Amino acid sequence: MARSTRALVTSCLTLALCAFQGASAAEAPKLNVTAIGASGGKSTLECWQLDAPFAVSDTPGTRGSAAATLGNVSNLGMTVLPAGFDGGVTQRAGQPVSNIHCDFPVYTWVMFISGMAHVTLPGDDSGGAYILGGEFGLIFAADTANVSEKGHYTRYPGIVETVALQIPTLDGEIPPHQVVRSGPCLTNNTAGLRSFAGSG
Ligand SMILES: *[C@@H]1O[C@H](CO)[C@@H](O)[C@H](O)[C@H]1NC(C)=O
Ligand SMILES: *[C@@H]1O[C@H](CO)[C@@H](O)[C@H](O)[C@H]1NC(C)=O
Ligand SMILES: *[C@@H]1O[C@H](CO)[C@@H](O)[C@H](O)[C@H]1NC(C)=O
Ligand SMILES: *[C@@H]1O[C@H](CO)[C@@H](O)[C@H](O)[C@H]1NC(C)=O
Repeated sequence: MARSTRALVTSCLTLALCAFQGASAAEAPKLNVTAIGASGGKSTLECWQLDAPFAVSDTPGTRGSAAATLGNVSNLGMTVLPAGFDGGVTQRAGQPVSNIHCDFPVYTWVMFISGMAHVTLPGDDSGGAYILGGEFGLIFAADTANVSEKGHYTRYPGIVETVALQIPTLDGEIPPHQVVRSGPCLTNNTAGLRSFAGSG
């Protein structure tokens, strides 16, 4: 069992390649992502479940696999951060900024493809969120300066470099979602991706 799980994981590096078996429309799974939101002028960590369910792809090349539409985007950027890098607090007027990576002027998807990011919130000692590069590496940053006074803090404590794709949404879109919990998504909010590989 453990061996077949590992094999499926290694052969299943992207959603599009995962076989997607046995899910009817009624039980179509939905993606949960950790989001950095804002409330009362402060950044928050939340687990969002996106309203758009996974559907069975009809696109040649990924036909039959699980596919979710995450919305319209405007740009694609890539950042490479050395191991053990401290990115500083997101940019705010009058505050020092050691790295612009964390300064999201607009709502932005961030896909960590390697390494590790540790997101913490100023004045919050809950431990923050550790985001591992890879299949569970997608987060959404919505704590723009107009809604969060102090932003959030990001370090990259991994032992290898952290590579991230930054993908701002188009025209300030926020993907329709429900907040599943306050705090980052837990393993049981994300592990469902692996079940897409089914038993085949
Ligand atoms: C993406 O843009 C199209 C065309 O402007 C629009 O119809 C659609 O509603 C947008 N999608 C989302 C998720 O906002
Ligand atoms: C905050 O700024 C973002 C990015 O410019 C914008 O899309 C959003 O509408 C603004 N929100 C408010 C409440 O002003
Ligand atoms: C998910 O895991 C957390 C912590 O391990 C637990 O408290 C929670 O009940 C679990 N939720 C579900 C739906 O299993
Ligand atoms: C999202 O989280 C819910 C529990 O809150 C879980 O039932 C579901 O399987 C998760 N989706 C994925 C794709 O892991």
